[in-house]
Amino acid sequence: MISKPILQDLPIDLDVQRLPRHIAVIMDGNGRWANQRGLPRIMGHRRGVDTLKSLLRCCKDWGIESLTAYAFSTENWGRPLEEVDFLMTLFERVLRRELDEMMTEGVQIRFVGDLKALPPSLQSEIQRAVDATQANKGIQFVVATNYGGRWEILQACRQIATQVQQGKLAVEEIDESLFASHLYTAGICDPDLLIRTSGEMRVSNFLLWQVAYAELYVTDTLWPDFDRAELHQALQNYQQRHRRFGRI
Ligand code: IPE
Ligand code: IPE
Ligand code: MG
Repeated sequence: MISKPILQDLPIDLDVQRLPRHIAVIMDGNGRWANQRGLPRIMGHRRGVDTLKSLLRCCKDWGIESLTAYAFSTENWGRPLEEVDFLMTLFERVLRRELDEMMTEGVQIRFVGDLKALPPSLQSEIQRAVDATQANKGIQFVVATNYGGRWEILQACRQIATQVQQGKLAVEEIDESLFASHLYTAGICDPDLLIRTSGEMRVSNFLLWQVAYAELYVTDTLWPDFDRAELHQALQNYQQRHRRFGRI
């Protein structure tokens, strides 16, 4: 359980009672950001890490309980090998570098996705960070790595089908909460707000089950340029929404 934070610098026009508990972000536009500057795409990814770090701090300061970031999709393996290798090395390096600060900031890190396909040295770094931070109560930080929503749903179906086949579960017992407990995100509340940068109006296989009732916010800003002011705007916009959940 994340403890109720002491809020720092929450903009006065935001209603503290109506903040999203969980924000998910599709961090898109690193490559275009670099291209616009005549730089190689990897420079955009490097800058994107700084953006994520400041967003995490901002979410913590403003009392958001969980932040989920889409770092690498199951489809991203289709990129040129050099880019994929760069990303894997970057993830590993950043995890190692940031662990001390995550401990002092009370960040509880968690990963969702098929981690077994990641380079073994990255898997060890992930395990180390998850174990070290599991009791932290400042903010829950979920990183979607080798994540694909369809695969997540399929593997949940397989686990449930196996239990039925073994006679451990009755078909009638399969409900939404049982299904959700078989997803990578078991125990994490659904996102209230899904932000996508760089203007693309699609979910790209991200949290397909979990975003059923998330509010969507798309900004043209490229991920490396997404700052506190941009988050402020997204939250202002979110607080103007009327979430009906199918009612009137
Ligand atoms: C998002 O930025 C980062 C990852 C998918 C890892 P992109 O790399 O997709 O940047 P664009 O969309 O090509 O600009
Ligand atoms: C989504 O961005 C995946 C991540 C942000 C990790 P992509 O750039 O891969 O998505 P598409 O190709 O525009 O759908
Ligand atoms: Mg992209």
